Amino acid sequence: MPRAVRFSRYGGPEVLEIAEAERPQAGHGQVVVDVVAAALNPGEIGIREGVFAAVWPARFPEGQGNDFAGRVAEVGDGATGFAPGDEVLGFAPRAAQADFVVAGPGALTAKPAGLGWAEAASIAGAGATAWAGVAAVDPRPGETVVVSAAAGGVGVITAQLAKLRGARVIGTASEGNFGFLRDLGIHPVAYGPGLAERLRAAAPQGVDAYLDTFGAGNVSTAIELGVRPARINTIADGRAVQRYGVHSAAQEQADEPEIWAELAALAAGGELTIPVAAIYPMERVREAYQDLGTRHVRGKRVLAIKPFDHEGDHR
Ligand SMILES: NC(=O)c1ccc[n+]([C@@H]2O[C@H](COP(=O)([O-])OP(=O)(O)OC[C@H]3O[C@@H](n4cnc5c(N)ncnc54)[C@H](OP(=O)(O)O)[C@@H]3O)[C@@H](O)[C@H]2O)c1
Repeated sequence: MPRAVRFSRYGGPEVLEIAEAERPQAGHGQVVVDVVAAALNPGEIGIREGVFAAVWPARFPEGQGNDFAGRVAEVGDGATGFAPGDEVLGFAPRAAQADFVVAGPGALTAKPAGLGWAEAASIAGAGATAWAGVAAVDPRPGETVVVSAAAGGVGVITAQLAKLRGARVIGTASEGNFGFLRDLGIHPVAYGPGLAERLRAAAPQGVDAYLDTFGAGNVSTAIELGVRPARINTIADGRAVQRYGVHSAAQEQADEPEIWAELAALAAGGELTIPVAAIYPMERVREAYQDLGTRHVRGKRVLAIKPFDHEGDHR
């Protein structure tokens, strides 16, 4: 039987189960994908714990995971642009961590042959989120841009996309990630108390734009540094959006196969690195979310729904 990650009550990682699931059929205009890799994102923790139950309730048994990569298994009548065996990546809300997902062609794009499965699985979530934030503040060549949590799944892509636009990028991180960020051409600064002073020292000429991927006062810091609200984006601080009128562009604002294709081409071409911190077999999904919940990482944590080759850290 095909398997799927499911949970039937709100709670910690212990509520996650590998359940038997029906193999979906491709309806009219739909494509069934045999999933190879599915990414993990912190928002999924909030949904599973019931933090967002009032706004986005779960329907038990609830599926999990959004962004994935795999091979087309079946193409329904009227679905054009894909054929069985094609390598694809895409977005299937609360369903991606499963052997099979069903998606409309508008939720898929081709995976370049040179792009790894784990990296491809991270594009429609973290990649698109990063893309949207960068587009919102529109960094220009020569400008100085700060990215908070620059070693995180979204932050590390955000920082590189800002750099690709010609900006000088300062990224906040813990000291253990300084060398990792320097290797990507990002100037590291420690987060935590005294951040504004450290950023002033790192950017004596001022900060032009601020991309917050963590919350926890980063938007206030940006305002304190004199960054205009129109040049600030946060993906993790709704209150700061209300208070300061800054942008909140995130995954939803870049939920388009054309944008995923652009990111996939950058990653396959070596212009964008999607660091993969760890890959876990699907059976170890609880451990994967426990690790994700520490909120310390270098890039993405990904589930291997099927075994695949990767030169990094397989758990
Ligand atoms: N709205 C949307 O569409 C959307 C989409 C994706 C993500 N998000 C949200 O965006 C946030 C980031 O997601 P993500 O996937 O990038 O998370 P992540 O990969 O778990 O990011 C963790 C990073 O946060 C850093 N960090 C930990 N404590 C910090 C602190 N006190 N101050 C600053 N940085 C700190 C860590 O740095 P070190 O490892 O260096 O300590 C780590 O690299 C989450 O809140 C997520 O829910 C929203």
